Amino acid sequence: MRYKAVIFDLDGVICNTDRFHYCSWQQIADKIGVCFDEKINDRLRGVSRRDCLDIILESHPLQLSETEKQCYLNEKNELYIDLLEQMSPADLSEEVKSTMDRLKSQGILLAIGSSSKNARSILKQLGLENYFDAVSDGTNITHSKPDPEVFLKASEYLGVEPALCLVVEDALSGIQAARAANMDCAAYGNGTKYNLADYNLQHFSDLLTIVL
Ligand code: BG6
Ligand code: MG
Repeated sequence: MRYKAVIFDLDGVICNTDRFHYCSWQQIADKIGVCFDEKINDRLRGVSRRDCLDIILESHPLQLSETEKQCYLNEKNELYIDLLEQMSPADLSEEVKSTMDRLKSQGILLAIGSSSKNARSILKQLGLENYFDAVSDGTNITHSKPDPEVFLKASEYLGVEPALCLVVEDALSGIQAARAANMDCAAYGNGTKYNLADYNLQHFSDLLTIVL
C-alpha cells in the first residue's frame, strides 16, 4: 500500500461545522460593522480563529486594540460553542464512518489534523473521542495552515513519515499545508474547486480506491 496513514482535516471533512462558523462570524462582523460574505468566508477555512478575525478586519478602516480583538475572539467562540451543542453522533455521515472503519480494519493509521482549538470537543459530540490514532489540532501548534506544522505534528504523533501520509482537506490553506509538509493530498468538498491536490474526491468513499 502506498500510504500508511490518512490525516483528516476536521471542519468540512469529517463534519459540517462550516455553517456554525459562518453564522457566528456573521454576528461578529455585524457588530464591528464590516462586510462579511461567502467570498470572505472561503478564506477563513483552515486558518486559526485569530487569523480569521484579521481577514475579516481587512476592510475595516480603523485599527482595533488588542483588547478589543480578544473580546471579539472570545465572543465568536462563545457563539460557536453554543451552536456546536446541536451536534450529535447523528451528524456523522454513514459514508464517512464506514470509509474510516474500512481503512482502520486494513491497518491504515488515522489522525486528525485541524487548526481548531475545539477539535476534541467536536470529536466528543460526534462520538469519535477515542477513534483516531492521533489528534493534532489548534492546541498543539503555533502556526496554523497553510503552515505544515499541524500535519507534521500528526505524522510525528503517529510515527509515520510524511511521504507515507495522505491528507484529506476541504480548504485551500489545508491543501497548501499538506504540500508544504511533503504529503500527498486528497481534496474533498469545497477543496475540489482549486484543482491543486493530488486527488479530487467526488465521494468520501473514493478514498478506499486511493489508499487500499
Ligand atoms: C478550522 C476551520 O478547522 O478551525 C477554521 O476551518 C477555523 O475556519 C479554525 O477558524 C479555528 O477554529 P476554532 O474552533 O479554534 O475557532
Ligand atoms: Mg476544513
